[in-house]
Amino acid sequence: MWGELTEAFHKAFPGAGAPKCFRAPGRVNLIGEHTDYNGLPVLPMTLAQEIRIAVAPRRDGRVLLRNADAAFAPMEFVNSDTLSPSAPGSWDNYAKAAVAGINHALAPAGRPGFCMLAESDLPSGAGLSSSSALVVACALAYLHALELELEQDVPRLKLAAMLAEAEHFVGTRGGGMDQAVILAGAAGRACKIDFFPLRVESVPLPDDCEVVVCDSTAKAEKSGAARALYNMNPRLCHLGCALARAKLSEEFGEDVQVERLGDLWYGPLCLTTREAESLFKRAVPEGPVPLAEIAELLGQKPEKVASQWLEEVPIVKGGYDILARLRHQAGEYRRVETARDALMAGDSTALGRLMNESHASCRDNLGISTPELDRLTETALEAGALGARLTGAGFGGATVNLVPADRVERFVATVERRYYGEYLGRVGNAPIFTAHTSPGAGPA
Ligand code: GLA
Repeated sequence: MWGELTEAFHKAFPGAGAPKCFRAPGRVNLIGEHTDYNGLPVLPMTLAQEIRIAVAPRRDGRVLLRNADAAFAPMEFVNSDTLSPSAPGSWDNYAKAAVAGINHALAPAGRPGFCMLAESDLPSGAGLSSSSALVVACALAYLHALELELEQDVPRLKLAAMLAEAEHFVGTRGGGMDQAVILAGAAGRACKIDFFPLRVESVPLPDDCEVVVCDSTAKAEKSGAARALYNMNPRLCHLGCALARAKLSEEFGEDVQVERLGDLWYGPLCLTTREAESLFKRAVPEGPVPLAEIAELLGQKPEKVASQWLEEVPIVKGGYDILARLRHQAGEYRRVETARDALMAGDSTALGRLMNESHASCRDNLGISTPELDRLTETALEAGALGARLTGAGFGGATVNLVPADRVERFVATVERRYYGEYLGRVGNAPIFTAHTSPGAGPA
């Protein structure tokens, strides 16, 4: 595998020096969706599917990108302090994000370039974090060009936190889950991840069940078409946080510092989930709230609220259901903590139930499911899964399913027939696989 990649590298870049190879795995999130950007926990695991790169440094600052998959055209840019994004969805943006992020955070003395050839068996647009795996791979390429070693010179969690911020370059307002599990995940274990500061706890996987991933086949390119949809939830959550802060400040009679929703649980306030839920109800009206009413609650002008909090989110006349988003955060926080305990106790039934509740909340409170994802999770439960939910950003992509080990064959056959065959009308191999973990990203 690595020998072939090296050989292909020499063909792609004749005359370049001997390359070094690195890998960055994908991930599947077991539970904790759309919580990371609020500083609330998640529980993903790495996948065996990964992005592999061969890279050789260049002194002239040029970054040359090639991909074994012809769908990704050759790209090139020059490393500088003023990198600007290419068109949304263009794959060089991920390399630019990594390079710009490292330049900003580490302020290295030089601005070297590199030649990089990438190949991948990780499906893209399936909610399995192909984007962040690419950012991490490109970061490893650039660190190599800078003669910096992962761990020795740049600790894994430091790089993960840096790249979470750096990925905003592509225009998505994601959190830090993907970069953290890709860099700090371990073989045979799941990761419970907490943020600000980033912490990773290794958690056992069930020994009586398999984690099965089913691709709904509806693509969710979060840096392309799904970007505005994805960003709507982070934006509305941050707005919800501002409303909660305004209410607390009113009640305390002084300004209360709450930067993100997670601060309600983890900051000096140290609220219980029940207290956070009660605060949300006091702070935010039920159902869709029009912009004018939100502005009044914040004591600001509607235009100011729109530019400060909503940005690219379209103005919806009827308003936004912010309380539903906050309900999801409180519920999902509780579910992740309980799921971690269930994994520690080997209680797969409890984990499955929590996954089902998480899917319902993603569908009803966040609006990130699709008819395909709903049908696929329903079919999975009928086919014997203990738990089934969408995984990743939503709006398409894959589901994650907890299936008793002795039922996997029947599960796959049933989902193949009912979802891919009868519902989608597809013939041929169904995109289903049993998830296997792999070590965190690093040198091959
Ligand atoms: C994407 C983002 C993550 C996270 C998930 C949803 O994968 O990159 O940061 O928000 O969506 O849980």
